[in-house]
Amino acid sequence: MNDPALRVHDSILGLLSSADNPTPLVRLNRVVPFRDTQVYAKLEWYNPFGAVKDRVAANLVADGEARLTVQAGQKLVEPTSGNTGMALAMIANAKGYTLTTPLSVEIPLEKRTMLRFFGAEVIELEDALCPAPGAPEGAIAMAMEMAERPGFHMLNQYVNEANPDAHYKTTGPEIWRQTEGTVTHFVAGLGTCGTITGTGRFLKEQRSALKVLGVHPAEGHDIPGVRSLRQLQQTQLFRPAEYDGLAEVQNQAAFELCLRLNREESIIAGPSSAMALAGAFELVPDEPGHVVVVIFPDSAFKYASSVVKYLPGLEPGAAKPAAPRDALLDTMVENVRGNADLTIDVDAAHEQWQVGRPFVLDVRPSDEYQEAHIPSAVSRPIAVLGENYAGLPDDLDAPIFTVCQRGNSSLSGVLFLQSLGYRTVRSITGGMLAWREKGFVTDAE
Ligand SMILES: Cc1ncc(COP(=O)(O)O)c(C=O)c1O
Repeated sequence: MNDPALRVHDSILGLLSSADNPTPLVRLNRVVPFRDTQVYAKLEWYNPFGAVKDRVAANLVADGEARLTVQAGQKLVEPTSGNTGMALAMIANAKGYTLTTPLSVEIPLEKRTMLRFFGAEVIELEDALCPAPGAPEGAIAMAMEMAERPGFHMLNQYVNEANPDAHYKTTGPEIWRQTEGTVTHFVAGLGTCGTITGTGRFLKEQRSALKVLGVHPAEGHDIPGVRSLRQLQQTQLFRPAEYDGLAEVQNQAAFELCLRLNREESIIAGPSSAMALAGAFELVPDEPGHVVVVIFPDSAFKYASSVVKYLPGLEPGAAKPAAPRDALLDTMVENVRGNADLTIDVDAAHEQWQVGRPFVLDVRPSDEYQEAHIPSAVSRPIAVLGENYAGLPDDLDAPIFTVCQRGNSSLSGVLFLQSLGYRTVRSITGGMLAWREKGFVTDAE
């Protein structure tokens, strides 16, 4: 049996992604600060070994096999920050090769342990988090020295064109097909730069106006897999002339957005995904027609020992931190008042209600609702708003009005619904008092 359409494969390697078997593209709804620009995350942990690097490892090996530099019983050696190593270890197992990987002790313990677990020989070195090619004692120098020994071969993801080619052949075509050619901006975090260089090249060949945007962490960062601007100078595949913009993201900002992605979007993204997304928020203007795809390289599961350093309340026994949504509502409600996009005056609301019967959420206490409410309005008192999401529209683009007595607490209702991802929510200015003063129809219960 082998039927990829039914997700039946005769080997784990059949799961490697391609235009016919793409990793998922998921729209982000809650953490996005845009009104018009649409943002999609490409979830690379759906690759068989858990990261974007599965594509690269598979292509490095296939390319080596085609050139006969990788042959039966081959001993592979590769300095790696983890994900390439894990994918290479598994591909080596599947194909009868071995993998030796010199790496920095700064790499999270989870990754070093899993590499051993997968069968790789791990040589731990006192190197920087990102191995530097020039450092004589570092992981790259040791791998190069080993590669000179008989029977060993180094694939060298830092210079090998098979790295960007993997993305040119798979990631790019997947995104083009999944967005039906509507993608306008492609955003990736920068490590070896294989992802941005290969995917960007493919997408620009389809649409020259498409913007290819790179995101890097600030100097001194602690985000595995990506490189600061200084560290990027050591990477041959970093080709800024081929990109349309770069953004720098602070370490702490990346970890905080990572937490929000997990809690608010229920997306298990790791820190480098959040870093790329934070950069996208800076680099992409908010305009109708903009469709952004951001690469999310791997999931949070490998990063327990990283996130615990930067986010309070995660250590064993810590009290449950306050729900970020509550804090958000408190600080944001004043910004909603007077924002013409988030409020609607009572006449306009009435007119639209007569024509299209938008969903109306009444956030007053039940007794006030029972006395008189807009016909078909759903009652959800503000005090219990966060406890019950049932009955809200399925369509996040559905127009929604929130209403209260005077138009104050309905502002919180707008923020709450926005935090759930609803994009067209407005508070009726003046509330039910204004509605009734105008003599507009009401129901009682
Ligand atoms: C977790 C993580 N994020 C981002 C990247 C960056 O991807 P690339 O090396 O293609 O620039 C990597 C690459 O190692 C990674 O492992």
